[in-house]
Amino acid sequence: MAPSSPPLPQFEEVKLATTTMLWRFYHQRPRTPRAKAIAYSAIAFFFFLFIISSSRRNEPDFWAKFPSLHPFPESPENAQVALPQRTDIFMNQTLPHDLDKPNPQLHVLVPAQQGSRGTCRALASAMILGYPPPTLVGYGHEMSGATDFEKTVDRMTRIRDYLKQSKVVKEHDIVLMVDADDVFFQLPPEILVTRFQDILRKNNRKLLKRYGVGTVESTTEGTPPDLVQKYSQRVLFGASKKCYSALKDDAGCISVPQSTLPPDVFGWKTDIYPDGHLNRPRWLNPGAVIGQAADLRLIYDEALRLLEQRHKKHGDYQALTQMYGRQEVIRELERRRTVNPITEWFQGLLGINEPANISTISLRLETGRRYEFGIGVDFESQLFFNQILARDDVEWIKFNNITKTSILQAQYRVPREHRLLLPSDIAALPNPFNQSRFAKDQTTRPEWDAKLDILPNPEQHSWHNAPLMTNPHSATVPVLAHLNGDEKLRNAWWEEMWFFPWARALLRRYVRVSHGFDAAQSALLGGQNWWDMRGGRGGVWTDKENWVTLSEVCEGQERDLFDDDLGPWAKENGDPDEPVYNKFGNLIHGKEPPEAEEEVEEW
Ligand SMILES: *[C@@H]1O[C@H](CO)[C@@H](O)[C@H](O)[C@H]1NC(C)=O
Ligand SMILES: *[C@@H]1O[C@H](CO)[C@@H](O)[C@H](O)[C@H]1NC(C)=O
Ligand SMILES: *[C@@H]1O[C@H](CO)[C@@H](O)[C@H](O)[C@H]1NC(C)=O
Ligand SMILES: *[C@@H]1O[C@H](CO)[C@@H](O)[C@H](O)[C@H]1NC(C)=O
Repeated sequence: MAPSSPPLPQFEEVKLATTTMLWRFYHQRPRTPRAKAIAYSAIAFFFFLFIISSSRRNEPDFWAKFPSLHPFPESPENAQVALPQRTDIFMNQTLPHDLDKPNPQLHVLVPAQQGSRGTCRALASAMILGYPPPTLVGYGHEMSGATDFEKTVDRMTRIRDYLKQSKVVKEHDIVLMVDADDVFFQLPPEILVTRFQDILRKNNRKLLKRYGVGTVESTTEGTPPDLVQKYSQRVLFGASKKCYSALKDDAGCISVPQSTLPPDVFGWKTDIYPDGHLNRPRWLNPGAVIGQAADLRLIYDEALRLLEQRHKKHGDYQALTQMYGRQEVIRELERRRTVNPITEWFQGLLGINEPANISTISLRLETGRRYEFGIGVDFESQLFFNQILARDDVEWIKFNNITKTSILQAQYRVPREHRLLLPSDIAALPNPFNQSRFAKDQTTRPEWDAKLDILPNPEQHSWHNAPLMTNPHSATVPVLAHLNGDEKLRNAWWEEMWFFPWARALLRRYVRVSHGFDAAQSALLGGQNWWDMRGGRGGVWTDKENWVTLSEVCEGQERDLFDDDLGPWAKENGDPDEPVYNKFGNLIHGKEPPEAEEEVEEW
């Protein structure tokens, strides 16, 4: 059999073309001594760069050497947290019992041993805004006599164990965890999740450009390796104007990325004013975090490991700061290893690459240990506002007051100011005061009461004239506020929140909506998207999967929650019977419900 004649190989043509080019180049070579000098220095320079670049390539591959892949390849920004809408449910139908919810759920974790005033405000505001029932981690485990360090270890262990072992939390689920004592919610969960995903999408495009792709073995045999983005953001913490104070020289304070806000956003003393209140928020604060459960598990596992090596009261804060710093150092080492030195040099000239500052950092890296956690921070307080050093950075604004919104940024000396508009995601929300048209006729608890259930007329009150806590510097309306600054401001700020004057009625509406047709409807038409499938409203879960009613957790806090003299929550009409606001739909996994809950509602 005659061998078929080989096709003309492509490289032959290329070689030919190169030879022609060299020939031409030779004939047009520089002839004057000056031109020669320039040409030879240029050649020497590029040769020098070539040497540098090839020597760098012998450094270890940081990306491959330390575990850098995340638990699964899908990115959190693409998680489908919302179900497609259903329109085929009618009022005369009963709901299927096997209602399944395969898409990721949202969980709210609040590490709290008891219902303090702060905890109750966090819980009440979350409920008013329609978050799924929060889970209290460590509830009822007051550790009297324990040291602060022991308490921190206990809290972190419970968080880690809950994330790892709970049957309720699946690895793709989105988990929001907030400090118990000092968090107020301002905006509903759909905004939280959408903004979280939008921020990741935007930042991950930048990280792809900055760090490029790596190759991993293909999952199907015999195919070429897959390309994956080397580094990406998967978890967002709140950003603070202040780094964890005991760590001044740590990578967590020095090497982490600069804020995305303009460098003069607080005037010409931005980032240099000594007391820090004109800093752009840049450093990690652990008071609020959102991410997928699998990513948070890795983070809290490592934070607990670091915490146990030390003995510090705020060891969790320190550990998370260090983890963020080390992650950024490894990323920078890997970037320097792989970057094209010519590009780097040009971009340096133009000032468009901001290399991380690792000049003073020395780290002892352990082979095989993970330093990559996909950690990022919310620089512009779109999700989380940290109050520390920032108490003067927010104001409560009614966006329909054009007099106010047109001068606001100028008042705060924001350079290049413009008129603020109500963020479009908030403008698209349904009216927050709309009382269900079935509310008055329903027999479900809490029973309708003309005095207790009074809400403002939705024709006149909406997001456009609700006072919203706004950051004029970043032009954002944060989803939640973390009041970690001056404790004395907590009462005053609570009373500024848009829902405060109607808090009791809004909370009653929230509880009532968990029953009857409205709930069924909303569960199937989209509202259910935000619930975990255990259902239930007007109470919280514990990490041991017990249901506790809000009145049980927050008894005696009514003055601080509502300040309305209308009596204890859920017993307003002197009704001695504790209303049963418990679960519906799917059952809790193998847990015995408390006595008050024996009659499981069916709808
Ligand atoms: C429920 O109501 C819809 C429209 O009102 C009707 O088409 C349907 O037949 C009813 N279903 C039952 C089971 O009665
Ligand atoms: C890098 O950090 C060190 C230590 O804080 C500091 O002295 C130095 O000025 C920084 N370098 C740059 C380029 O910011
Ligand atoms: C609008 O804002 C201005 C400036 O803060 C204030 O004086 C005025 O009372 C506000 N108007 C309304 C209707 O709230
Ligand atoms: C209140 O909700 C109903 C139905 O849910 C809707 O038709 C109505 O337009 C809403 N009212 C306002 C003021 O948004």
